[in-house]
Amino acid sequence: MTDPGVVAVTGASSGIGRATALAFGAAGWSVACGARRGDRVDEVVADITATGGLAFGAGLDVTSASSVTEFFDTVSGELGQLDAVICNAGISVPGCLADLDAGDVRRMIDTNLVGAVLCAQAALRVFRHTECPGHIVFISSDAVQKPYPNMLPYGASKAGLEYIAEGLRAELVDTGTRVSTVRLGPTETEFGDRWPGRAAAELWRVWERHAVLPTDAVLTVDDVGEAIVEVVSAPRGIEFRLVSIGPTARGTDGDDGESDPTPAGGTSG
Ligand SMILES: NC(=O)c1ccc[n+]([C@@H]2O[C@H](COP(=O)([O-])OP(=O)(O)OC[C@H]3O[C@@H](n4cnc5c(N)ncnc54)[C@H](OP(=O)(O)O)[C@@H]3O)[C@@H](O)[C@H]2O)c1
Repeated sequence: MTDPGVVAVTGASSGIGRATALAFGAAGWSVACGARRGDRVDEVVADITATGGLAFGAGLDVTSASSVTEFFDTVSGELGQLDAVICNAGISVPGCLADLDAGDVRRMIDTNLVGAVLCAQAALRVFRHTECPGHIVFISSDAVQKPYPNMLPYGASKAGLEYIAEGLRAELVDTGTRVSTVRLGPTETEFGDRWPGRAAAELWRVWERHAVLPTDAVLTVDDVGEAIVEVVSAPRGIEFRLVSIGPTARGTDGDDGESDPTPAGGTSG
């Protein structure tokens, strides 16, 4: 196993990012947490330090090159040599392509693709400067594998991210830097909380009609966080290149067969 070091998690204020930061903290890593909602980031940092861990938090907007540079410049000063970054920050705005607002399309690409690229670039500059091989992890979605109707620009942003991951691995072949893509299925988070009205329930029905969801089970953020720690903690001789994670299908034992088509808080992206 790779010894715990310093990891930066973007989008650490909620959902998968928050759970991942906590899981790294519990595994003995020093954790740099970034997101726009500074108060939420501070809570995550407090949760890690309350259990004896080391953490640092700062406001971070991944769509801003200067914010990203400032965040990564500060991490090493606060926690020491950066070993890994989890490019997790992401958003989605649902809607059929014909009706989606152009600004929302740009915001998705800007956050999910450009934002992750800016963070990877900043981390690579730090790795090079400190002569640390480092590890870059991109959080993707099973939407890449099977397009989710009414989420197409979102899926395209993640497909672009996977393309970057594959190409980046080739560019870094002589450096020892590891590049991993973690492709997630539906996970119970705040992801759909900002969607209008009954958008989540309606989307779920559309996806059922198009059979894009293999099961109505959803992943928990705690399980996902632990899996991401495993990817980064793998022995240095191993590179998890593409890890596709879905929920275990609910068994029939004790299941009354009357499941709600929209699991509580369960969105997908
Ligand atoms: N939930 C799912 O079903 C699912 C499935 C597959 C993949 N994913 C991916 O998992 C990642 C995390 O999503 P989640 O489900 O945990 O949703 P979430 O709870 O809404 O978390 C999204 C995180 O991204 C941050 N963020 C958004 N825009 C940002 C920006 N411009 N700069 C910095 N941080 C930003 C948010 O923080 P602030 O608002 O405080 O900035 C928040 O911490 C995303 O990349 C998403 O695409 C989710």
